[in-house]
Amino acid sequence: MSFRPVYSLLLKPPFRSSYRSVYLYRMASSQAASKFGLKDSGLIKTQGLIDGKWIDAKDGATISVTNPATNEELGTVPEMGLAETKEAIDAAAKAFPAWSKKTTKERHDILMKLYSLMQEHHEDLARIITLENGKTLAEGRGENAYSASFLEWFAGEAVRTYGEQIPSPLPNVRNVVIKQPVGVVSILTPWNFPSAMITRKLGAALAAGCTAVIKPPPETPFSALALAELARRAGVPDGVINIVTTLKNVGEVGKEMCESKIVKKVSFTGSTGVAKLLAGMAATTLKKVSFEAGGNAPFIVFDDANLDEAVAGAVICKFRGSGQTCVCANRIFVHSSVYAEFASRLSEKVAAFKIGNGLEESTTHGPLIHSRAVEKVVRHVDDAVQKGAQILVGGKAVPNSNFFTPTILADVPVDATLNSEETFGPLAALVKFDTEEEVIKLANATDVGLAGYFFSRDVGRAWRVAEKLEVGMVGINTGLLSQAVIPFGGVKESGLGREGGHGISEYMNEKLMVFGGI
Ligand code: SIN
Repeated sequence: MSFRPVYSLLLKPPFRSSYRSVYLYRMASSQAASKFGLKDSGLIKTQGLIDGKWIDAKDGATISVTNPATNEELGTVPEMGLAETKEAIDAAAKAFPAWSKKTTKERHDILMKLYSLMQEHHEDLARIITLENGKTLAEGRGENAYSASFLEWFAGEAVRTYGEQIPSPLPNVRNVVIKQPVGVVSILTPWNFPSAMITRKLGAALAAGCTAVIKPPPETPFSALALAELARRAGVPDGVINIVTTLKNVGEVGKEMCESKIVKKVSFTGSTGVAKLLAGMAATTLKKVSFEAGGNAPFIVFDDANLDEAVAGAVICKFRGSGQTCVCANRIFVHSSVYAEFASRLSEKVAAFKIGNGLEESTTHGPLIHSRAVEKVVRHVDDAVQKGAQILVGGKAVPNSNFFTPTILADVPVDATLNSEETFGPLAALVKFDTEEEVIKLANATDVGLAGYFFSRDVGRAWRVAEKLEVGMVGINTGLLSQAVIPFGGVKESGLGREGGHGISEYMNEKLMVFGGI
């Protein structure tokens, strides 16, 4: 580093202190960059982003970000608060007129440039995801590809934000509907997909012509900051994307992001409990909202299922991200006639998993995000076992770590806590059933309804069951739904609105023009 701190002592404040903070920032970011071991260390940013400037918290407070596989500190980011949030919202509002006036082709091209940069930096971005989230490098690569695919998809959507002409029953009248961007958008995202949950929202927002304030989770802020850096390189103008990092001040930051009159829409992915809180805040100004909240996915194996496919589906559906996705199977219902065979084949696969540091190529499953997540799995296993469930595989937390051994429980009783609460961990709970009617009732006996899955080769049953499951998304003979092109979202307490697919409309208002006297 060429900067010599000793020179700053010769300067009078405030120059001395500003040199000092530049020096401290450079040191913090170069230390963090070295922990990530990237080809392009410029992707590691340890400051928030407001109006195109990388900045610290006003009081200099920071949040420590750790690698869940080792509990080692990766770096710090600012602990921002209300003042920084207001500035970020003002910056987004200032940037909105110019960004929304760009042609859809211009916005398309910038999004495609960002998509290309994400591909160019694929390995680095995957590494950041793995280091801060703990998922394996293969999953980190998969997430980066998934994340970039939202930008490609919404770039295409940007140029197709058609309105419509509605024939009028009145004489000499013409009705036309146009679509306009809503304005400044607040985006609040979870740690389980540090990158993809941002692009799924931000891609749609930018394509529509909106500007954004993003609050990434305190566990995984570096992916968000790297995306913002690439967005800058792709030509996204200052103020269009702003990032506020926070942990302790999340209450005041979240409130401002939801209640500010300048913000016109809130998009959130996370738990149902937090979604309800944010919905109450957003209701104070009747904002548009999109909420992708918790799930409790049923996964049903009928007696006519192809068992090889059902086992493979359960492995990916239940254990993706070590069970930490909102669409992971939470309850696995298996017909009594194939129950023993399914349980034995699934056990064989799960017993062969290798948990470990996601950077090691031999690791098949990484840690959970933190010790609280491990404690929840322990609670669910203990409760089920106490009520009569049998442990077929695993069942134990690894002491002094964030690892939990991938687990299969058999004969889980219906009153086990895990049937009503999302586990969000590597725990497959098998429940036996006998009839289609019975299993549909069991599957729907929950307040949430995000995803559901079933395996059956009977076409009539496939239609019947798919229609009857109270969820927003059904996987039939597959354990994996996620793609940028689909309407992703739930029913009941799993949320409001749809992301991906035609989700750009969630970031646009329809305006009716009625022309008379024609
Ligand atoms: C989520 O867990 O919220 C998203 C999962 C996905 O997009 O596959």
